[in-house]
Amino acid sequence: MPTALITGAASGIGRDTARLFASAGWQCVLVDRNAQALHQLAQELPAEGAHVPRTIDLTDPKQIASLAEGTPALDALINNAGMSDASNTPLVQQSPQQAGRLLALNLAAPAAVVDACSQLLKPGARIVNVSSGAGLSAIPFRGLYSPSKAGLIAQTRALANARPDLCVTVLCPGFVRTELVAGLIEAGRIDPERAVAKTPLGRMATPDEMARALFFLASTGAAPLSGQVLPVNGGSSIYGGSQGFAPATLDVLPLGLPLQLEVLGGPAQPWQAVSATAGAGPHYPACIDLSALHRKSGLLQAVHEAAIRFASRHSQQASLTVLLPPDTPERSTRWQDAGDGAAARMLISTLACEWGSRALRINALEVPPEVEPRSLYALLRYVCGPAAQYVTGQTLVCYRNTPNNAPKDAAA
Ligand code: NAI
Repeated sequence: MPTALITGAASGIGRDTARLFASAGWQCVLVDRNAQALHQLAQELPAEGAHVPRTIDLTDPKQIASLAEGTPALDALINNAGMSDASNTPLVQQSPQQAGRLLALNLAAPAAVVDACSQLLKPGARIVNVSSGAGLSAIPFRGLYSPSKAGLIAQTRALANARPDLCVTVLCPGFVRTELVAGLIEAGRIDPERAVAKTPLGRMATPDEMARALFFLASTGAAPLSGQVLPVNGGSSIYGGSQGFAPATLDVLPLGLPLQLEVLGGPAQPWQAVSATAGAGPHYPACIDLSALHRKSGLLQAVHEAAIRFASRHSQQASLTVLLPPDTPERSTRWQDAGDGAAARMLISTLACEWGSRALRINALEVPPEVEPRSLYALLRYVCGPAAQYVTGQTLVCYRNTPNNAPKDAAA
């Protein structure tokens, strides 16, 4: 039975995450300050007696230090607990005490939890921090929320560098319908219509979509992403236009639908095993396009052609994942050609904005060209599939932290 420690487990994203892990046969160490909700959850989960509820205030370093006592060895540690600031008090009017509590929970606690549990982490354990889109661009009048979440992203990268023996990643959710967001809507700090209008997919996420992202990041298949950010935000972080998006009209498909995958632009055989072929029943259609992977130049054109191929096959609710070579300075020998990679990545984001209203998604993975396909199966299964229906417009960089550790394709 693999074991995961999940902080902030009593509500919202953490609660759905605990439910998903428990239903997949994991033992959960459930950490929260809300004792009542925590015990209620522990009783409701499958394999009831297996889970370990721990009532802890994560703003108190002494309580965090006690976390290791009685906690089993961990395959995954998820630092999810966090708070926002709905007071609407301008930063310059905040006392250090008011600002300090948020900082203690959102930035200091994740590091302290890792320190407290370091002896419990199994070899190759996964650590996942939950930051926010607010860590990628500033949200004013929410106290130190954005700074704390930006700090957490940088802290994650530093931990991944310091501990290459672990897989350390950071999730940046967009707007998710949880108690936290309900509170901000009630306090007038979020206007749901305007939030949706800035999101190419035209909707907020469900907590279950974040739980699925965390489940993937807590798996061994997340190894290629160590040190990276996974933005699960409906494309809100990649949109720079001024026109609002209309609310989504298509229902989200079941997150557990079978994936039906088509491989285009290269030899399908080594990639086909990403998914078992879906039968005649309902499925989520996806394409992987390989045509840009071995290009020395012309990435922009290759992505454009891949998009045209995909759009001729699918008109709604499907995904395209393009494999790109790493965008390192060594790739382009002439500075005049150095814009090609950035242009291709921005094309991915631009297409995501144009396609969002039809729930057509596009993402890219930057991978070493000789990478062993098998090492990317789990990542592709997640990004291409229905569980990632809120992921679009992103370029995820694989093996950036450990380029020499990327398993090589023997045939390359
Ligand atoms: P939530 O408010 O529904 O749940 C947070 C949980 O953390 C609660 O169970 C609460 O009791 C617990 N908690 C709060 N202070 C604590 C403390 N001092 N010690 C121990 N536990 C404490 O929040 P939600 O929406 O599920 O958010 C989870 C994470 O996702 C947070 O880090 C949040 O910043 C992040 N996030 C949420 C987004 C959203 O739209 N809901 C968007 C982006 C990021």
